Amino acid sequence: MSRLSLVVAGIDDTVPDVRRLVLAPADGGELPSYTPGSHLVLDVPSGPGRERALANAYSLVGESLHPSSYEIAVLRCDPRGGAAGGSAWVHALRTGDPVTATTPRSSFAPVQPATRHLLVAAGIGITPLVSHLRFHARWGREAELLYLHREGRGAFITEIDDLTDGSASCFHDRVSLLARLRERLLDQPIGTHLYTCGPTGFMDLVVAEAQAAGWPSSRVHLEHFGLDDLDPGEPFDVTVGEQCFEIASGVSLLEAMEKQGYAVPNLCRQGVCGECRLELGPATTGVWHRDLYLSDDDKAAGDCAMACVSRALPAADGRAHLEVLL
Ligand code: FES
Repeated sequence: MSRLSLVVAGIDDTVPDVRRLVLAPADGGELPSYTPGSHLVLDVPSGPGRERALANAYSLVGESLHPSSYEIAVLRCDPRGGAAGGSAWVHALRTGDPVTATTPRSSFAPVQPATRHLLVAAGIGITPLVSHLRFHARWGREAELLYLHREGRGAFITEIDDLTDGSASCFHDRVSLLARLRERLLDQPIGTHLYTCGPTGFMDLVVAEAQAAGWPSSRVHLEHFGLDDLDPGEPFDVTVGEQCFEIASGVSLLEAMEKQGYAVPNLCRQGVCGECRLELGPATTGVWHRDLYLSDDDKAAGDCAMACVSRALPAADGRAHLEVLL
C-alpha cells in the first residue's frame, strides 16, 4: 500500500477539544482524490505513555476531488489508564510537523443509486458525513442531516449550514433527536439510504429505530471508530503450518504471530479496517469474532478471523484452537 509523506499545514482549535488539521504533501505535489466517507490512516509513533506505534484511522472532511491538502478533525480523548493514544498525539502536533499516512480508503461511501440520503451523526461522528454532504451538494443529491452535539461543541457548523442551505437539524439531547428520527424514518421515499456515525451506543439506537420502522439492513450504513476496551479473553492454541504456540490472555493473535516472526498485514489493530483477515483451517474449534468488519455471513461461516481482535472459542472438550492457513 502506498504511503504519503505529509506535513501539518494548518491547525484549527476553535471548537473545544476538537482539532482540525490540514495536511499538505511534503513535496508540494498532488494528492489522490478520494471517495466521500473515506478515511486516512495516520502513523502514530511510539512516545511517552505510548509503548508502541499505532495506526489510527480518521475520516477525511475536506474536498475529495483533486485535493491540494487533506483535512481531518480529531476529538481529544482521555484514554483509560492514562496512556497517550492517537488523539493526544494529534493534539500535540505543530504546524510544519511531518506525518505519514496511507492513501485514503473507503468503507462508508454514499450509495450511488439511492434516491435520497438520511444522515444521522453524533459528536465527532459528523466527520465522515461532512464529506457526504459535500458530495451531495456538488451533484445535487437529496440529503438530510440530523446532528446531535453538545451545546457550543458542534463541529463544522458553518460548512454544514452552507452545504445544506440551512436545512440541517441540530439537537442537544438524544430524546429530541430520536423523536425527529422516528418521524423521518417513516417519511422517506422508497430507495432512501440511512447513514450513521457516532458512539457505538448511539448507532445501536439509530439502527434499532430503523429496524423498528421496517428498514432493511441493506439500506442502513454505519461507520465505526473502533472498539472499546476488549475482554482479554482466555488463553488458546494456534497452529500455523507446522508450528503450534499458545496465545496468552490479553495478547492478540496478531501480536503473538508478529512475535513469532509472521508478517501479518494490519492497519487499525482495532477490528475495523479488515487488513489483518486470516483464513482458518478445519482444526479450528470456533471463533470469537469481535471485529466490526466481517459480515454476519462471514462470521457464521467460521473460516476466517481478524487477527487483531478474534480469539478461539473452546470445543466441547474444552480445547480452544485456531488453525491459521497461510
Ligand atoms: S488490523 Fe484492522 S481489522 Fe485488524
